[in-house]
Amino acid sequence: MIPPKPALPSAHTPSFAAFEARYAASIADPAAFWAAEAKALDWFRPADAVMRFDPLTADIVWFAGAKLNACYNCVDRHAASTPDRTALIWAANAPGEYEHITFAELLAHVSRFANLLRELGVKKGDRVCLYLPMIPDLAYAMLACARVGAVHSVVFAGFSAEALRDRILDAGAAVIVTANEGLRGDKTIALKAIVDKAVAGLDVVEHVLVARRTEADVPMHPGRDEWLGPALARQRPYCPVEWMDAEDPLFILYTSGSTGKPKGVLHTTGGYLLYVASTFRYVFDAQPSDVHFCTADIGWVTGHSYILYGPLANAVPSVIFESTPVYPDPSRLWRVVDDVGATILYTAPTALRALMRFGDGPVSRTSRASLRILGSVGEPINPEVWRWFHDICGNGRCSVVDTWWQTETGGILISALPGVTPLEPGAATRPLYGIRPLLMDADGNEVHGNGVSGNLCLAGTWPGQARTIFGDHARFALTYFSAYTGYYFTGDGARRDENGNYWITGRVDDVLNVSGHRIGTAEIESALIEHPAVVEAAVVGYPHDLKGTGIRAYVVTRPDMTCQTVELQAQVRAAIGPFAMPDQVVIVPGLPKTRSGKIMRRILRKIAEGEKHAFGDLATLADPGVVAEILELCEGL
Ligand code: WT7
Repeated sequence: MIPPKPALPSAHTPSFAAFEARYAASIADPAAFWAAEAKALDWFRPADAVMRFDPLTADIVWFAGAKLNACYNCVDRHAASTPDRTALIWAANAPGEYEHITFAELLAHVSRFANLLRELGVKKGDRVCLYLPMIPDLAYAMLACARVGAVHSVVFAGFSAEALRDRILDAGAAVIVTANEGLRGDKTIALKAIVDKAVAGLDVVEHVLVARRTEADVPMHPGRDEWLGPALARQRPYCPVEWMDAEDPLFILYTSGSTGKPKGVLHTTGGYLLYVASTFRYVFDAQPSDVHFCTADIGWVTGHSYILYGPLANAVPSVIFESTPVYPDPSRLWRVVDDVGATILYTAPTALRALMRFGDGPVSRTSRASLRILGSVGEPINPEVWRWFHDICGNGRCSVVDTWWQTETGGILISALPGVTPLEPGAATRPLYGIRPLLMDADGNEVHGNGVSGNLCLAGTWPGQARTIFGDHARFALTYFSAYTGYYFTGDGARRDENGNYWITGRVDDVLNVSGHRIGTAEIESALIEHPAVVEAAVVGYPHDLKGTGIRAYVVTRPDMTCQTVELQAQVRAAIGPFAMPDQVVIVPGLPKTRSGKIMRRILRKIAEGEKHAFGDLATLADPGVVAEILELCEGL
């Protein structure tokens, strides 16, 4: 155990005892706690009731009757009080290229964008799909949607045309915003070409707005496509906000589950904004002097909550980083920290593992004197990486917070508080205010006490909780509220140690966490099956030094057709995106199945983990011989 760093005199949480007392109060009366927290936001109309929650119908309501606007809270009120304060710092792909955007400038950009959306006929409740690189236009577009009451659906610009098309269709988005090309490291990504492919023949898509990120010209479809620059230039930099109900949707964000079809996780305006604003303030102990640098892509929930909404709601300048930690060299991340004077660095274990390979040199060559808090998110951080982050990157001076949460939770649920919580390398530590984790055993009973493990569930509700899956509330209720009656099930396993600290042990469902990206094995399997030569496929994860989890696909092909493993990798790349591509494809004569035809993934997982013998009882298999054949084919992988 590492004692917490000294708390700042202006810290939001002065001591661990103060945290514990406040936590106890928040659990005893969550409604009172959140009603008090809500005062940090500007509301156009107060709420009639704080919350309503029915786990049986998965009905979650926060601040019924209240009205507010998320963009107003993130932009307008700060533009009024501190117009010249920096809101966003864009760190462009090229080293040394920065753009500082003040709150007054942000308001003008966002207002122009909002007027453009209105000109295109976008109304409250309409979905707008954003497929953009990490450029300021992405932030403007999201805030503009929030301003006019449109629901943004950001699709990470690493998804393929097919995956983008599915998401556009599911959301029913009539307007798409993209760029001619994206730049990341030494790669150029042909975003507009991908969009053209995705929307070909889709009646629902009426407008495609194209930001000019590079000099490249791209074909423009007359009547449908328009360059963003000139379209914004003709708008007025003033646009009234739409006052939204607290429960009006703010955004949809697609994420993977255990079926082949991605889920459009829906977050609403009041609860989500309050939750990310509040957790940002406590977990990063937000101070007026902070500069926040989160290295995630805005296309994932981390970027939504802790690049955009959380920091801006707190008027803390936030960095939008277009490049990668290793471009043009492995000092890049730390150089950005020094250049912008970042006080908080929020990143992922996978990035740290990649940097660790280059040794301490690229880190030590930089100052990092501005840093005071280091955050980790996305997957379990192993103690070795934690220590490197703490000792080398933070010079042993900075608080490390390992933050556990999910797309569905909206914001951080389990984390240390800097200067407060005793640190435990590898543990996410304590639940935040209002959060009640519990562990369940295989029979669905709660496991009490400390020094126990189980499936991680949450009791009650918190404002940032997802409200539904877009267009499929039954799936929402089934996925999250049916495994353990009365509770939200996270899909993760966890251990509560002797001191009451939580350690997340990883997914217990068919979801893989590859380099911090969430991918369902079923999605990869359905992509593989689309290949004409593939009869059957089973995908499992295995421990991978860099990615955390590597992807192995076992594939059965038609006897009359040949097919190369690279073709199958390409198939997944086209269906989902490069990040979902299996690292290993093994063409096998058959899959281990029970007599009733169920694939025994447990065995396939063990083989991928390098197990050679201990497969348990194979007598239930329809053809036990297949295991030896698969083992032989996997030899040397
Ligand atoms: C899954 C959620 C939360 C934003 C990024 C990922 C894993 C997340 C941690 C952590 C151990 C973590 C869990 C979770 N996860 N943070 N600090 N320690 N595991 O969001 O794509 O919705 O994935 O990421 O398995 O369920 P997501």
